[in-house]
Amino acid sequence: AIERKVDALLKKMTLREKIGQLMQYNDAGCSAPTTADGDNPAMAANPTAQCVDAMKLAADGGMGSMLNVVGAARTDKFQRAAVEKSRLHIPLLFGADVIHGYRTIYPVPLGLAASWNPKLVTDLSRMAASEATTGGVRWFYSPMVDISRDARWGRSVEGAGEDPYLGSAMARAYIHGYQGDDLSKPDHVAASVKHFAAYGAAEAGREYNTTDMSDIRLRQVYLPPYKAAIEAGSATVMSAFNALNGVPATANPYLLTDILRKEWGFDGFVVSDYTSIMELTHHGIALTPAEATMKAIEAGTDVDMMSHYYDTQLPKLLKEHKVSMATIDEAVRRVLRVKFALGLFQHPYARGTEVTHAVPAHRPLVRKAAEESFVLLKNDKVGAKPVLPLSSDVRTIALIGPLADDANQMTGAWGGAYRKSDVITVRQALAARMKKNGGTLLYAKGTDIKGDSTAGFAAARQAAEKADVVVMALGESGDMSGEAGSRAHLDLPGKQQQLLESMVATGKPVVLLVFSGRPLVLDWAARHVPAIMETWFPGVEAGHAIANVLFGDVSPSGKLPMSFPRAVGQEPLYYNQFPTGRPPGKADLSKPPQGDTRFISRYIDVPNSALFPFGWGLTYSHFAYSGVHVSRSKLPLAQANRPGAKNLVTVTATVKNTGSRTATDVAQLYVRNLGASVEQPVRSLKGFRRVTLKPGESRTITFELGFPELSFWNIHSKQVVEATHYTVWVGDSSLANKEASFIITP
Ligand code: IFM
Repeated sequence: AIERKVDALLKKMTLREKIGQLMQYNDAGCSAPTTADGDNPAMAANPTAQCVDAMKLAADGGMGSMLNVVGAARTDKFQRAAVEKSRLHIPLLFGADVIHGYRTIYPVPLGLAASWNPKLVTDLSRMAASEATTGGVRWFYSPMVDISRDARWGRSVEGAGEDPYLGSAMARAYIHGYQGDDLSKPDHVAASVKHFAAYGAAEAGREYNTTDMSDIRLRQVYLPPYKAAIEAGSATVMSAFNALNGVPATANPYLLTDILRKEWGFDGFVVSDYTSIMELTHHGIALTPAEATMKAIEAGTDVDMMSHYYDTQLPKLLKEHKVSMATIDEAVRRVLRVKFALGLFQHPYARGTEVTHAVPAHRPLVRKAAEESFVLLKNDKVGAKPVLPLSSDVRTIALIGPLADDANQMTGAWGGAYRKSDVITVRQALAARMKKNGGTLLYAKGTDIKGDSTAGFAAARQAAEKADVVVMALGESGDMSGEAGSRAHLDLPGKQQQLLESMVATGKPVVLLVFSGRPLVLDWAARHVPAIMETWFPGVEAGHAIANVLFGDVSPSGKLPMSFPRAVGQEPLYYNQFPTGRPPGKADLSKPPQGDTRFISRYIDVPNSALFPFGWGLTYSHFAYSGVHVSRSKLPLAQANRPGAKNLVTVTATVKNTGSRTATDVAQLYVRNLGASVEQPVRSLKGFRRVTLKPGESRTITFELGFPELSFWNIHSKQVVEATHYTVWVGDSSLANKEASFIITP
């Protein structure tokens, strides 16, 4: 039915109206900043070269969609122009960077990935869609599913980290939440999976940089999360800024046509990233705007975000027979298809009562998400007990650090249309707690996030000296990660490291809360601070969630979705590396090389391993894994090498809570495949389960391995299973060491 409606409408459209559907502008239509609805400056416009009158375009059918225009008053104003004044009354589609909440901001996506809880991600995405649609937004530029293995890349914060299996699970979870099972419901939004493709592999972690990789790596590591999103029904795709193997993604027919449409059957539309069609000239593959336009639309980029090229160039290109009407029609058809699927023609305006602030009823879910996102990296004993949870003997806490009371930093990059007044800081939450407990909270900022000031050190020291425990809130500002947030240094910025050292020097037990949009180098802290918890950017419930975990109302359960390095020089760092011909074996890499320990694949100044590896995370209890078992020791190749074959081998293991508190662990299954025609990673995640157990309780967990888990990509770009040997491990991180094995026989 939708196809009939699309065809009927297309027949009525003039060329200008058709091209209009392919154009996207913000409300300024140029570099002048649009006013953010909320306190988030990122909701304002980015710079572009030329200005248009967006309102006039809306009214005369010259624009099909708008970006980062949010709030019912603003969206409805433009929508009225499109629906009431334009000749064909085609509604506009409002897209926005709602990537971790609209008003009720939840943890940044990297933090959410640390929950290893796809259901939670779906619930949050659903919630964000329900809020944003009241502000007229029916399209999210999310999820970002770029695999990121280089912590220097600031956009790591927007994705699910380094692993394709976890990344795919998260990708599906977002799409289900945003789109539900019926896109036409007015509180559902179209997703835009981005940035297609392999943007996360930008060389040296430098933003917008080039990407160059084998087809095997592309297909095995980088493509799976996008594919998972497409299979889950993502209505749109955003092309990436980067070039892949020399061809910018926005003009890359291999990505946008061969893989996306022909292999995966995608029938929605592709939107360019911001001015990325124009940037094809900077990449040097187009000498003129006309050439850039031609290459982008021919490759499969349907919508021009802010380049102002399709509207200026396509009429001429059509006249010169350089672009065909069929190509333009196809792009328009894809856009209209999504608009009809969204039911925009029936419900063009902002829905219901507008959500203008964080919604009280949404806070419990957001708080739970924050609690589940925290990763307890270290928790040593001081005296008889681990520092965390804080004991009831703690009467005075010194809360120190520039992130302890800065509401603007708790929402991180792309913090939706948050309101600063909605954010609960750590200071606010701990102050309320201590008041209730009859204790005292002393607070000193100590220093700024960036900058050289040590003027606050003395006050911080005085507070620490009076306290039973020092809680430090250190890390990055929200804008140090996200777009254009690449860093060459991954340490605590400014004078924060010095502040940390001065607090440790007081001899008081220190709990370090790290706020960051990426793994940081915490080498010194790991050696000198007894308790460290990564809190990412937790959102509006930051303070409450942190207090709940610090005081033990909730046991932490997050696991790292990205490896934390010992030194920046290890980047890109990821657990699922390929083997080398000179593996370190059992050599002690913490010692400088000598004799046999030199000519192996290693650094001479730092161990190869991560400081905190992928999958790592402690809780307030302990879990033991045993009895790893596979359902069969042999499996014939003919049975295994069938795409779609499910449950070929079942892996079971027992997990037991051996500690004294109810807690949750994430049981992780890793697989290695030895003897294949192409070398395979030393281990790869192929399953995970969150398991909550009471003290002494145990449970048998089961994982199924089928073709998707056992197969790999060969040199002919074919996904195959071969007759090889498999080892499986089950445990609580990528260091899992309880194993079993089986063989696929010829
Ligand atoms: O959606 C974003 C994208 O991720 C980066 N460039 C700008 C787009 C629109 O704001």
